Amino acid sequence: MKVNEADIVISAASKTQYPKEYIPEIALAGRSNVGKSSFINKMIQRKNLARTSSNPGKTQTLNFYIINEKFHFVDVPGYGYAKVSKKERAKWGRMMEEYFSEREQLKATALVIDVRHKPTEDDCMMYNYLKYFELPVMVIATKLDKIKKGQRNKQLELIASTLELDDKDQLIPFSSETGEGKELAWKKMLEY
Ligand code: GTP
Ligand code: MG
Repeated sequence: MKVNEADIVISAASKTQYPKEYIPEIALAGRSNVGKSSFINKMIQRKNLARTSSNPGKTQTLNFYIINEKFHFVDVPGYGYAKVSKKERAKWGRMMEEYFSEREQLKATALVIDVRHKPTEDDCMMYNYLKYFELPVMVIATKLDKIKKGQRNKQLELIASTLELDDKDQLIPFSSETGEGKELAWKKMLEY
């Protein structure tokens, strides 16, 4: 897909701030620092519209981006970062629950997993949580540029089996460095 326009709409800390328009949304999910914001930037060909960082915990709010006046990407804060206080963890939980359980505009989620590692317990929990809300999930196996070609299939199989991936859900090898997987990710998203 050709992206002509991409802009931030709002950084929302609670649902009163979500955009009111009834246009479809695709949300991101995944561990801190896994590459959620980088995924958005690569998909829309903007260097740093979604702010990224080499330190975990960069994204702290639900950030709504409007793409070609047609749909929203919603960037979310990651989970699984050890240095987060109990209080902050609870706040994260409330923010996610409020969004994922009630947002009618939400059509699908892109769950971003690091292709180099076996999905963590948190990843499995997140996947099950999204399935509980009957949301279609695309699993984006990112940082593909960081493994050898010969390791790809083994890692992808490990991800699918650990998550117990539903046949309906697509697993997409991806790299925000090289752009590999971008076409397939767009194809899937447009289906939603
Ligand atoms: P939080 O907002 O903290 O939850 O993190 P995030 O998931 O949004 O991660 P972010 O996109 O900020 O990326 C984290 C780091 O990983 C940055 O240093 C990125 O440059 C790097 N990164 C992300 N995707 C890729 C990729 O596909 N390949 C490589 N080599 N590096 C990547
Ligand atoms: Mg981020």
